[in-house]
Amino acid sequence: MSTHTSGLAIETAGLVKTFGETRAVDGVDLAVPAGTVYGVLGPNGAGKTTTVKMLATLLRPDGGHARVFGHDVVHEADEVRGRVSLTGQYASVDEDLTGTENLVLLGRLLGHGKAAARERGDQLLAAFGLTDAAAKQVKHYSGGMRRRIDIAASILNTPDLLFLDEPTTGLDPRSRNQVWDIVRAVVAQGTTVLLTTQYLDEADQLASRIAVIDKGRVIAEGTKGELKASVGAGSVHLRLRDAEERPEAERVLRNLLVAEVQPEPDPVALTARLGAAASDTAADQAAKALGELARAGITVDSFSLGQPSLDEVFLALTGHDTGQSTDGDSGTGTDKKDGVAA
Ligand SMILES: Nc1ncnc2c1ncn2[C@@H]1O[C@H](COP(=O)(O)OP(=O)(O)O)[C@@H](O)[C@H]1O
Ligand SMILES: [Mg+2]
Repeated sequence: MSTHTSGLAIETAGLVKTFGETRAVDGVDLAVPAGTVYGVLGPNGAGKTTTVKMLATLLRPDGGHARVFGHDVVHEADEVRGRVSLTGQYASVDEDLTGTENLVLLGRLLGHGKAAARERGDQLLAAFGLTDAAAKQVKHYSGGMRRRIDIAASILNTPDLLFLDEPTTGLDPRSRNQVWDIVRAVVAQGTTVLLTTQYLDEADQLASRIAVIDKGRVIAEGTKGELKASVGAGSVHLRLRDAEERPEAERVLRNLLVAEVQPEPDPVALTARLGAAASDTAADQAAKALGELARAGITVDSFSLGQPSLDEVFLALTGHDTGQSTDGDSGTGTDKKDGVAA
């Protein structure tokens, strides 16, 4: 698939795009391994779409450079275009045509014969659960169906690199899950996926590595585990047999663990948030805690170990939340912690 030697699908260094006073992308360095889903996570206005447009050769960078499979996006734009496909906040399908008509038309435009275009279209409609809607005009599709036909249209020719720009924004949970399954299927076929998202759980579900961007800058980068480790080791959730034993259980846990121990609204439940600095793994700490509680004669009915959410990661890195509940520029007016290294 990738013919150059670095094994990277995307490499950028100091990438910049300005719109008047706005530094939409403000010196972004990315290294995206081929054959993986790479998540670019950030709130509205962070610079995700602008970054994707530069990588897809739709916008010319004002500074820095970017290579896609070793090809410079400015000087070798044709080579880049031949290997990438884009799905996102763009119309690629015609609302007045049916699902089948759209895919056949696009297949013909890509140079497939009529029968081959029809076959590939039918195959994708079936794979994306759209067979029943194949003869319906796209304007009558639900949001989830629309997103699926958009992705189908973008992988008619299996691209080496697929940009998915917020593919599930605004979708209901069931439709999101369907799109996630499609993304997993696409990457299983060898396509590299650059996925932008505002949803922390989406990056967590799909991506191997994640770059967190805020105001045009990468503020953290790494595997999910690395990002989570920068915030904390996780949480231990306990349910006790007897609510009267809870104060004693809290005492035992506080003495034993580098943790913030909190009683839950449920009178038998307790949560211990494990610190990032502790040398033991979360599982080791949890095992110790259970042993100590047993020795103290406290019966634990159920127990679970959870990793910190990416929401907590974002808050810790940026000092502000992800603004999921607002529709505007959530970040503006909030100070950024420039000291947090990528
Ligand atoms: N064509 C444009 N003209 C002027 N400003 C723009 C344009 N495109 C994006 N911006 C601004 O650049 C910033 C980043 O936008 P964008 O890349 O769309 O962010 P995201 O996709 O993360 O929501 C925002 O402040 C946005 O208003
Ligand atoms: Mg965008």
